Amino acid sequence: MSETDVSLRGLTKRFGEMVAVDNLDLDIPRGGFFALLGPSGCGKTTTLRMIGGFEEPTAGTIELAGKEISQQPPHKRDVNTVFQSYALFPHMTVAENVAFGLERKKVDKAERKTRVAEALELVELGSLASRRPTQMSGGQQQRVALARALVNRPRALLLDEPLGALDLRLRKQLQLELSQIQRDVGITFIHVTHDQEEAMTMADTIAVMRDGRIDQLGSATDLYDHPRTAFVANFLGNSNLINADVVSNSGAFAEVDADGGARLKVPSEPVAAAGSAQIRIGVRPEKMTLEAANGKAQQGESNALLGHIVDAAYIGLATQYVVHTDGGADLQVFVQNSANGTSALEEGDRVVVGWDPEHTFVVEREEPNAG
Ligand SMILES: Nc1ncnc2c1ncn2[C@@H]1O[C@H](COP(=O)(O)OP(=O)(O)OP(=O)(O)O)[C@@H](O)[C@H]1O
Ligand SMILES: [Mg+2]
Repeated sequence: MSETDVSLRGLTKRFGEMVAVDNLDLDIPRGGFFALLGPSGCGKTTTLRMIGGFEEPTAGTIELAGKEISQQPPHKRDVNTVFQSYALFPHMTVAENVAFGLERKKVDKAERKTRVAEALELVELGSLASRRPTQMSGGQQQRVALARALVNRPRALLLDEPLGALDLRLRKQLQLELSQIQRDVGITFIHVTHDQEEAMTMADTIAVMRDGRIDQLGSATDLYDHPRTAFVANFLGNSNLINADVVSNSGAFAEVDADGGARLKVPSEPVAAAGSAQIRIGVRPEKMTLEAANGKAQQGESNALLGHIVDAAYIGLATQYVVHTDGGADLQVFVQNSANGTSALEEGDRVVVGWDPEHTFVVEREEPNAG
């Protein structure tokens, strides 16, 4: 899986003054499920269209399987694209829709039949081969579109928000099916989405894109547990971010002063990587614990901040608290409700917010346009 399939170097697209894709360097591993994740307008579709050959780069190169393809027309490139709108031919049956590309490529009839049957089997539509798209649900139509792309056995499959038009339940179901299909066929999938949960459910590797650039690339757990920018920390899930000044950094943990002077421990490596004494530290709300502040001394190894509860919302599986710390920060703390009934803590209570120093991540203090 370490082999690179699609390699982008200095890839840039300008529309007049507008820079849609900004000097992008990206290596997409072979045979994996890769997601390009980012907010609307960040340049995802433009990047995918350049890989597919539907948009000409202003600068930079695109390699597929080690060969430069930037100058090739779309039909010469060994990639296929599945769009949000299925663009099926309404007057053709499902089987005819899937066979269309093979006919154009002059694949002979017997092989065509086998490959169409295989592709339809893969998306579990074998029994609906003679239906027309207009007689099918949105999810079924999108599976036909997928079969139509896979039947060509492309080196890489490009998917641009292919589940965007489906309702939530169907989208969830197709997310699981898509990742299963990817594992079955072993083709490189490059999936574009603005939905962080969708990317996290399906992809082995996620590139988080912002303003035409890649902010961070990694597995879902990498990005969630060790976000390196405030943008990534807020785009994937919820985060508490607190300004902190580095006091010392030697050994496994750095010491920082945060939140009106509280001394906290933070893993040393990301502090060193940030390269500044003025950082922001982050903790996920579910990684924090909440206890009544009853004057007893803190347990040594845990980070702790004192404050009071300003909001408590019971949502069944958890209670979501907002704690206003004595240092002036508002922290979200999610406490799982493993016992029946509401917890003993309520608005106005003095509390200690605690967390394991290991669960602290570090981002830069100053960051433009962090969401
Ligand atoms: N043909 C075009 N002419 C001018 N500007 C364009 C063109 N296509 C895209 N853009 C601009 O380039 C930027 C990136 O667009 P793109 O479609 O790649 O975003 P996206 O990440 O796919 O967004 P979404 O999630 O909304 O689909 C946007 O600001 C968009 O307005
Ligand atoms: Mg788009």
